[in-house]
Amino acid sequence: MSETVISILVMLHVIGVAIWLGGQIVTAACVIPALRAVGDRTLWLNALEGFTKRFGRVGIAAMVVIVITGGAMVDPRLDQAENFGPDIYDARWGYIFVIKMALWAVMIALIGLHQFVFGPRQLELARESAAADEDTPELKRVRRLTIVLSISGLLMTLLVAGAGAFLGNHNFSMWPA
Ligand code: HEM
Repeated sequence: MSETVISILVMLHVIGVAIWLGGQIVTAACVIPALRAVGDRTLWLNALEGFTKRFGRVGIAAMVVIVITGGAMVDPRLDQAENFGPDIYDARWGYIFVIKMALWAVMIALIGLHQFVFGPRQLELARESAAADEDTPELKRVRRLTIVLSISGLLMTLLVAGAGAFLGNHNFSMWPA
């Protein structure tokens, strides 16, 4: 694969990362606080549900682009790493890549629990208690969980991005381990 093609893959990979990471930060720092300030529970719950559905789709599309472009770059980079020996761990690149994939798997698990399990459950409980305009203990518990999952998911995303940066810097990664 030519370095021109790899440059295009890196560009698409990093654009996917920008949407995935940037979307999480904008949601936590801008969207959620703005919606909470609306006051009318039913109104902000409807807006929150509409937003999270759309952001969920954009996030999944970004991760699909990240995985396809990242996956396409693995083979040509492994060929390069083999200059340091037949074993993936003969070059620093191998270690960094395996650490990145492990971090990625934990990130996907945390964000998946937030997006598909506790996030929808929190919306459901918030709707049930909207009429009473009071948070039930169960809603408070689930909200704490979704907040912990989204913060740890964001921290893991930053760690994966960091591992990616070390991976992409060949003056560091393409070096005997
Ligand atoms: C299954 C998922 C992923 C795979 C297979 C993958 C694979 C790769 C590969 C092979 C490279 C090129 C490294 C090189 O040039 O030697 C790369 C670069 C990079 N990846 Fe990933 N990646 C994945 C997910 C992610 C995620 C989730 C992030 C961030 C949140 C990320 C951030 C980066 C960054 C910042 C670079 C460096 C780009 C550069 O060279 O400037 N990657 N990735």
